[in-house]
Amino acid sequence: MLKRVSTLLLPVMFGALALPALAGDLEQPMKKIGFNYKQAVKADDAAAMEKHINEMKAQFDVAKQRNMPAAKKEKFLEGMNEVQTELDASLAALKAGDEAKAREHLAKVDSLKKEYHKYAKQKG
Ligand code: HEM
Repeated sequence: MLKRVSTLLLPVMFGALALPALAGDLEQPMKKIGFNYKQAVKADDAAAMEKHINEMKAQFDVAKQRNMPAAKKEKFLEGMNEVQTELDASLAALKAGDEAKAREHLAKVDSLKKEYHKYAKQKG
């Protein structure tokens, strides 16, 4: 009997473990993006800025793979791509030795965040 129960329950248990991964929302990558953004802004040398910007880029790639509300998906992806373009511009400025310009692009990321978080808060 016990064996029978476990045979029935095991797939359910594994299913429950796999579910959060499938339904994975944007919270986890967003937390990392937020953390790395602060670190990039705080950084006082180009190498540290570059490291955190690259981490943000990678986390946007993660975020883009996650489930998003279908009604907002197109808008969200558009926003994430815009942010990544600014991050690339920031990296390019750093490579060219222009930290001030790199910071201007980081500031644009903050406005994009505000703009697109408005869509995130909208119902439906
Ligand atoms: C432009 C595209 C973006 C979109 C579409 C977007 C979307 C979202 C969504 C839907 C959430 C809610 C996640 C949840 O709780 O399930 C969220 C949270 C968050 N986002 Fe974004 N976001 C974007 C850009 C950014 C940027 C650029 C930053 C940082 C610079 C950022 C930082 C955060 C933070 C800190 C949270 C709160 C995470 C938490 O603690 O729950 N986001 N975002």
